[in-house]
Amino acid sequence: MKWPVSSAPVRSKILRTSLSVDDGMGERLAVEPGAPKPFLQDGGNSPTLSLVIPTAPLEDEMGDVLEKAMKLRGLSESALARKTGIDINRIKDAILYRYDFSSEEITTLSDALGLNEPGFRALIEGRYPVPCPCGLPFQLHVLAMPYGVGVVNAYIVAECGADTGILIDSGCCCEALQQVWPACIRHLDAHLVTHWDSDHGGGCEGTRARFGLAHCFGPGPERPGVRVLAESETMDIGAFRIEVISTPGPAAEHYCYLIRRRSAQPSKAVLFTGDLFFCGSIGGGFFDDRSVLEHARRLWTTLPSDTIVAPGHGPLTTIGTEREFNPFSTGC
Ligand SMILES: [Fe+2]
Repeated sequence: MKWPVSSAPVRSKILRTSLSVDDGMGERLAVEPGAPKPFLQDGGNSPTLSLVIPTAPLEDEMGDVLEKAMKLRGLSESALARKTGIDINRIKDAILYRYDFSSEEITTLSDALGLNEPGFRALIEGRYPVPCPCGLPFQLHVLAMPYGVGVVNAYIVAECGADTGILIDSGCCCEALQQVWPACIRHLDAHLVTHWDSDHGGGCEGTRARFGLAHCFGPGPERPGVRVLAESETMDIGAFRIEVISTPGPAAEHYCYLIRRRSAQPSKAVLFTGDLFFCGSIGGGFFDDRSVLEHARRLWTTLPSDTIVAPGHGPLTTIGTEREFNPFSTGC
């Protein structure tokens, strides 16, 4: 199957931060506004490829985070106003992205909502750190597609120089995916789906047909052409090892995939998070809010800092960055 290179513009984010972040390898990376975003760089002895990836805007703004945090705490606008002493109309405005909180009020809100203040503050002040992940011993293609007012991401992992790979999620439809398909990938070894929301699995059936895949892999519920993976299953496909991590919350059945290159030496991995968490926020708990938070915190706590995070929306990040800055990472 051959899909052409896209000529469609990809939204690029203007980095708004001058913070430095841990790149997971003990180095601090200065992230300057407008700086190029090198992605795959030399990772030591492993073959690597350098690419420049357009960086998507953050998925959530302060108003989204505020609303999700209030829902998690069971606080209404009026209850939060009483708890913080902040006028309810200013809280309503903030949820609608109009905010002018003072430094003291940001501290008060963070305390009242149990948020990680440095990250919440950075988000409000437009300087949330977006890291420049590097050191992967394989290619990661970011397929960012416009969706609603934002962007939804699918990804391909492939050996450097290979014309085949593994597709993770497929956007809302095959046509949208085709617009951003990399010309170098002409075959697929497998297609994994994180969950069956239409913006993540909508292109699955068409893609499977176009590439002649017997089936794709994903969580339940059972559906034609899908092999439902077991929770915590591990499987090897081509050069890659895939670990299935069950993370219900955004949907009743939702998987994250931890993918690394098979080798004798442990190598850096990419975690595909679907709607569980993003750079600077967590996903909506359309099935269970608490479960979203618990699974996100479990991954932030247990995975290595240098694990690259490839979320279903927004820019790439790392476990280390989210552990340190995500507004919901309090206690991690
Ligand atoms: Fe989504």
